[in-house]
Amino acid sequence: EKGGWDSFMDKEIHEDPAAVQRTLLGRFDKNGDVALDEVRIDEHDFKAIDKIIVIACGTAAYAGMVAKYAIEHWVRIPVEIELAHEFRYRDPILTPRTLVVAISQSGETMDTLMALRHAREQGSKVLAICNTQGASIPRESDAVLYTHAGPEVAVASTKAFVAQITAAYLLGLYLAQVKGAMFRDEIRHILDSLKNMPRKIQWMLDTQTKTIHQAAERMLNAQSFLFLGRHVGYPVALEGALKLKEIAYTFTEGFAAGELKHGPIALVDEGEPVVFIVPPERGRNVLHAKVLSGIEEVKARGAFIIAVAEEGDKDVERYADVVFWRPACPTLMSPLVDVVPLQLFAMDMAKLKGYDVDKPRNLAKSVTVE
Ligand code: M6R
Repeated sequence: EKGGWDSFMDKEIHEDPAAVQRTLLGRFDKNGDVALDEVRIDEHDFKAIDKIIVIACGTAAYAGMVAKYAIEHWVRIPVEIELAHEFRYRDPILTPRTLVVAISQSGETMDTLMALRHAREQGSKVLAICNTQGASIPRESDAVLYTHAGPEVAVASTKAFVAQITAAYLLGLYLAQVKGAMFRDEIRHILDSLKNMPRKIQWMLDTQTKTIHQAAERMLNAQSFLFLGRHVGYPVALEGALKLKEIAYTFTEGFAAGELKHGPIALVDEGEPVVFIVPPERGRNVLHAKVLSGIEEVKARGAFIIAVAEEGDKDVERYADVVFWRPACPTLMSPLVDVVPLQLFAMDMAKLKGYDVDKPRNLAKSVTVE
């Protein structure tokens, strides 16, 4: 059942490309436009949506955070992310034009289920992005967009994350289409980039695995890690940090790289490992230079720098001690590749420490209690 891999986590990380591919499959009409027929909210209601609130927990919430950057940019409507357990116990501002999107791999997370009931009681439509057919969350939602990642067994979520981003992007592009927020050609162009991502993820798996493993060997005695990113790299940093906490039991803090100077830089000492997600599109993306200056700052304080950066990024090569290379891709697509080396890194660390990567202590695959 592990298909030759020695853990489910290993198998599932290697299914990242297929998870994206399968989630895209059958979601286009003959003209190449996004067609989400299974989502039973009619076009008229979709057109009226003026705000999205994503409710989710853990990894699923980080996928929602990534989607916020894309959907706000494409559709020009506000997208809020709220941890389901927080949403549930406050008085959220919802209108019939708010679309609540519940993201859940298992579809059984009690916090998310309670939050979705809370939203529906107040008259909002809920769309579930879920990986498990017929689970409670999709059953109780007004509409469902399934991620077709295939069953995820390891407690640490991996392929579900990339599939959730893919599904949320499809939803965003569909909304842009229905609302006329973008030209058809622009949407097609983005879809082409999205369709290229399984190949790019595969490249990462094929070429970077050894470097990642060696980095884990070098870092085995590290007591703590910092993970930093900006824009879509920020939720990726949070997700990379979560993986390491969850299965390698290492104190890890993820935060927005811009926050460094507002406090966290005080933590950086000689030899402290700091992982940076460096944005692509060097020269065109102002954030590239910003992240780079963060790298310089911590380097000056003796940090050990691990970077995820675009192939050929000479600036990063100059400062980083280790680089996990990503093939060139647009910024909004980069999380789909960037999370992969972080998943592998956490898994390698945990295995080298002798832990069971599929069943970390104190955790369950689906959290069915509030
Ligand atoms: O099944 P769900 O996607 O609703 O689960 C949400 C979280 O419990 C889950 O992502 C958790 O954070 C993972 N163990 C992270 O690897």
